[in-house]
Amino acid sequence: MFEIYNKKLEDLKSASHFRAVSEFERKEGKYIYVNGKRLLNLSSNNYLNFADNEEITKEFLDTVGYKYTFGSASARLLTGTLPVYNELENIITSLFNTEKTLLFNSGYHANVGINSAIADSGDVIFSDKLNHASIIDGMQLSKGKFFRYRHNDMESLEKLILRERENYKNAIIVSESVFSMDGDIADLKKLVELKKKYNCILVVDEAHAFGVFGEQGLGVCEEFGIIQDVDLIMGTFGKAIGSMGAFATGRKVLIEYLTNKARSFIFSTSLPPIDIAFSKWIIENKLPQTYAKRMRMLNLAKQMNSESQIIPVIVGENDKTVKLSEILFQNGYFTLPIRPPTVPQGTSRLRLSLTADIVEDDLTKLKEVILNYM
Ligand SMILES: Cc1ncc(COP(=O)(O)O)c(C=O)c1O
Repeated sequence: MFEIYNKKLEDLKSASHFRAVSEFERKEGKYIYVNGKRLLNLSSNNYLNFADNEEITKEFLDTVGYKYTFGSASARLLTGTLPVYNELENIITSLFNTEKTLLFNSGYHANVGINSAIADSGDVIFSDKLNHASIIDGMQLSKGKFFRYRHNDMESLEKLILRERENYKNAIIVSESVFSMDGDIADLKKLVELKKKYNCILVVDEAHAFGVFGEQGLGVCEEFGIIQDVDLIMGTFGKAIGSMGAFATGRKVLIEYLTNKARSFIFSTSLPPIDIAFSKWIIENKLPQTYAKRMRMLNLAKQMNSESQIIPVIVGENDKTVKLSEILFQNGYFTLPIRPPTVPQGTSRLRLSLTADIVEDDLTKLKEVILNYM
């Protein structure tokens, strides 16, 4: 009975696709310690160094965190909600100047919940080809139909809309703002134009941009001045904010609909109050002081030809990618190989992500090693 799984695992191994969770000893700022070796961590979404940061954790626990517990023990619709959950939702609503916000347990929960609920039978979703797995999983659970357009290709999207829009009632366009594996930025202004022209709902996933882009750190929609043109913005607390959880913010009618229909919200125990309180504390007390270091990080990324803090080094074959990651490890860099199905076949890569404490000198040897290898 289990032979089939063994065979599948062997196939993964022979294609250099096999994955296992590795262990590290500890993290300290921009460094990670693995097998007694200190490495520059280029595989982290801890963009502002708020996660596993002893100083920040202690300050939070001493001033606020001690009041909160580690379990919520129920979904919010079942037992109600402590004030801190509503307070965090209200802060997000007021920062974005939207109508209403709903918290989710993670970005994965948010995308699965949003995309499965927002399109009913007779509706359609147009999704960027490189959108995150959680968006794809949500669409697959939806009763609506979905089509994927070529990555960030607005002509491909418009052609698809012209071909399909009239066959459906509601149409939804969904895109990441900063693409998680490529680091490029969606043509959001054109997406707004198309959604208005063809009467669609626009949903934007700011997972890698919330806490990084924009004057207040709200994301690319803030930076482009289009928050009010987007119907639903999703952001996570698990990346730049250094906590856990996610939000959807936008039109009241959509948020109330998700509260009633998003199964990942309805049928899962909510995050512990202490996590919610930590996200709130970071957003209120720490995020407002990060502008200079966020800009420094993005300038460093620009020098490496990336529009965002995520810098893809596309190698191609799996085994060659794994090898480059090992060479970089020997040279003091922690970068994990990213392979299909996370990225398309033939585009295995190292996904370098900068964090705010990394400086130019940290990357000199890295560039040399990569250039020699490619
Ligand atoms: C674009 C995008 N959306 C959503 C998620 C899921 O967010 P979370 O890690 O909070 O579940 C990720 C995670 O990597 C992501 O890259």
